[in-house]
Amino acid sequence: MSGNLKAEMLVDKEYQVAKVDNRIYGSFIEHLGRAVYGGIYEPNHPESDEQGFRKDVLELVSQLQVPIIRYPGGNMVSAYHWEDGVGPKEERPRRTELAWRTIETNDVGTNEFVDWAKKAKAEVMMAVNLGTRGIDAARNLLEYCNHPSGTRWSDLRIKHGYEEAHHIKTWCLGNEMDGPWQVGHKTPVEYGRIAAETAKAMRLVDPTIELVACGSSNKDMPLFPEWEAITLDHTYEYVDYISLHQYYGNYEDDTANYIAKSLAMDDFIRTVISTCDYVKAKKRSKKRINLSFDEWNVWYHSKEADKKLDPWQVAPPQLEDIYNFEDAILVGCMLTTMLNHADRVKIACMAQLVNVIAPIMTKNGGGAWKQTIYYPYYYTSVYGRGIALNPVIKSPKYDSQEFTDIPYLESAVVFNEDKEEVTIFAVNRHLEESLHLKCDTRSFENYKIIEHVVLEHDNPKAVNTFGNEEVKPHSNGVSQLDNGHLQSDLPKLSWNMIRLGRI
Ligand code: AHR
Repeated sequence: MSGNLKAEMLVDKEYQVAKVDNRIYGSFIEHLGRAVYGGIYEPNHPESDEQGFRKDVLELVSQLQVPIIRYPGGNMVSAYHWEDGVGPKEERPRRTELAWRTIETNDVGTNEFVDWAKKAKAEVMMAVNLGTRGIDAARNLLEYCNHPSGTRWSDLRIKHGYEEAHHIKTWCLGNEMDGPWQVGHKTPVEYGRIAAETAKAMRLVDPTIELVACGSSNKDMPLFPEWEAITLDHTYEYVDYISLHQYYGNYEDDTANYIAKSLAMDDFIRTVISTCDYVKAKKRSKKRINLSFDEWNVWYHSKEADKKLDPWQVAPPQLEDIYNFEDAILVGCMLTTMLNHADRVKIACMAQLVNVIAPIMTKNGGGAWKQTIYYPYYYTSVYGRGIALNPVIKSPKYDSQEFTDIPYLESAVVFNEDKEEVTIFAVNRHLEESLHLKCDTRSFENYKIIEHVVLEHDNPKAVNTFGNEEVKPHSNGVSQLDNGHLQSDLPKLSWNMIRLGRI
């Protein structure tokens, strides 16, 4: 065990943040670019099933164990007519899709997506249009999806071949309504009112649902966090969650600064928690609003290419970021940040899932492959289930252009009581040196190391392409555990997962 850079950590089974809500490993499929058409759905593809869904893509999605998937938008939902996407396919209209200026064929709609999500073993998180529409369209869609039978909309669902209701539990009240780019953009008071009244009507249709109000589109929006305070003032008693959205990019080509952007995410989460609790105090309420971080990822590589695309195409290659190794490091840090807030972040959706700023890419008519960011997402989703512990970390620090006191060691720890396993997710942010980690795990007696998985690469800009997985994990990480003292070498700029289990 070597290295000059050293960090220490204490992990104790009594220092708990909260039980992880598995829905923080959710994702998102929007009718945008090739996410649906050419992504999950490609009827003429040799790998497609009887409904036109690509089995190779489903296989990669299933491996991720995605528990919940947001649908159908995103910006797209703000001008969407859900009625266009149900019923006989030959009768469905082709529409101009205003958010992304494409043609929407409506070959896939609510029922097909529910079928696909079932195949992927995921719940659907459905968004309603509060841009061009409102209470009526939302309550009708809910009745179509969740009401058993004997009413106009539930009987229409049955006529469309779906006898059993879809039982969709989680609903988003619009999307990014603070954004001037949104069709039907609103002021916080306008949004607060329509969200509250829509939520009220939806709860009358189905009192078992959970509702997410739109927070700011990102932390830099001019009205953040006043937007949250005002809209929650109107919606507090009707909603369960407030949404957060955030994308990062290495625009400055400064890796040390870029991989610290999870600190900004941490700050964003803390501010939204404070704002929710401020409204709680103001209302003398006992109810707690939790956080739904339902869009998060890296998004910047494709922005210039997208400006050159012609409008009104069907499923053009929009937002097709090709991710590199440093993006995977930041994604790993964003996941640890959300785990460390497991007491308040109950839903999160990596945006998105296939082809559009996604961990999974496809070629039309060809193969599917894993981007670099697939790996931290995969391991954290599969092994980060249980109780999030609160690791006490002593790490050397650095400063960058935007941040001060950035710990080289970023970590989150999850204890799975059922499996008697402890999983340590750890990033070494140092670009040149390996980090020697000493971790006190004494409260876990009779544990051994199961594996130490490492994602590392000499070139921060290395990418995966179809047939060439340049960035992939290995299990040769150097760790040893003696008498509750774990020692690990975390290679320079690396993402690590160290799993301990009972002897
Ligand atoms: O995920 C891509 C877009 O980002 C979504 O449509 C929108 O909600 C956000 O601005």
